[in-house]
Amino acid sequence: MIAGTRNINYLRISVTDRCNFRCRYCVPASPFKVIEHERIARYEEILKIVRIGCDMGITKVRITGGEPFVRKGIFSFLHRLCRIPQLKDISITTNGSRLSRGKIKELMDMGIQRLNFSLDTLVPEKFAKITQRDRFQRVWDNIMAAHDLGIAPIKINTVALNGFNDDGIQAIAGLTREYPFHVRFIEYMPMGNTDVGADAQILTQDIKNLITEAHGPLTVVPKEINDGPAKLYKLAGASGILGFITPVSSHFCCECNRLRLTSRGTLRPCLLSNKETDILTPLRNGADDGSLKQLMVSALKDKPSHHNLEKRTARDLPLNHMTSIGG
Ligand code: GTP
Ligand code: 5AD
Ligand code: SF4
Repeated sequence: MIAGTRNINYLRISVTDRCNFRCRYCVPASPFKVIEHERIARYEEILKIVRIGCDMGITKVRITGGEPFVRKGIFSFLHRLCRIPQLKDISITTNGSRLSRGKIKELMDMGIQRLNFSLDTLVPEKFAKITQRDRFQRVWDNIMAAHDLGIAPIKINTVALNGFNDDGIQAIAGLTREYPFHVRFIEYMPMGNTDVGADAQILTQDIKNLITEAHGPLTVVPKEINDGPAKLYKLAGASGILGFITPVSSHFCCECNRLRLTSRGTLRPCLLSNKETDILTPLRNGADDGSLKQLMVSALKDKPSHHNLEKRTARDLPLNHMTSIGG
């Protein structure tokens, strides 16, 4: 599928808007409603949309949430997804709290080789402050289990925030000296009405400065085809990689090869634009494959050439919070 000059081969599927964590930068500050069960796309429906996407060039899928592992039946869904022959790369973004050694083994056995874990700090008390859940040890044990079992690469996503984890950035970066992990620092995107203000944002240049102060210079690592938006570097002697995801200080929209399917069954061509195309209702009303394909093509017409996050004021930021889109 083509959008402008971009070849869209990557579908990010949010299977649920529910999450067992309450990360302050992700969930809204005020009480919010979860989506009613009947409005959430059923697994059968998601698989149908994926198959249609595959006919149109999708080869890579990432499962996101909320937290994907809170949804019932997720393992049997993943088994079925892994049997779709056109999919060459299936991966999951998770907070890691609902996994176990046995479940990670099951994921590997079905063909899932890559996991991205969200982890903002290595200090249990800070972890509890950010996520509002006391689950550091469980998450860390699962990351270690994934490493022992041979999941590779393991990517760690860290949203850098003043006042929350800025004093632990150097320690997280240091993980790449001990483990072959890809540690990615993500610039905070102010979305929805979380209780984290834009003033908590730390831009990549400042993160890099903190890291080089503690660990010495960063060497550029060339990207491979299909690598995500992170700009990659290495510390001297490190087996792991440091990545910087810069949606705010330097957007990467011209390389963006993704389409999102939300848990409500809408196609969202851009994370940072609220334009969505409902594909679930036509599917439920019996639309044939040809019409559903047409909907995918027309959804991509709404893919902007780039976002304008930096020019926006608080009033016109994307209203949907991350947990309902899946990052
Ligand atoms: P892989 O390259 O397949 O590992 O995927 P990824 O790095 O895109 O996956 P992940 O879900 O771990 O993404 C990390 C974070 O980067 C997301 O949670 C978002 O915060 C940010 N991000 C990912 N994709 C986009 C995008 O298309 N636009 C913007 N603005 N931010 C993104
Ligand atoms: N800005 C940047 N990244 C975010 N994530 C969630 N909310 C935001 C935000 N506002 C990231 C989390 C997680 C992924 C699913 O999305 O760190 O890794
Ligand atoms: Fe893609 Fe939109 Fe993110 Fe830009 S802001 S990289 S177009 S999802």
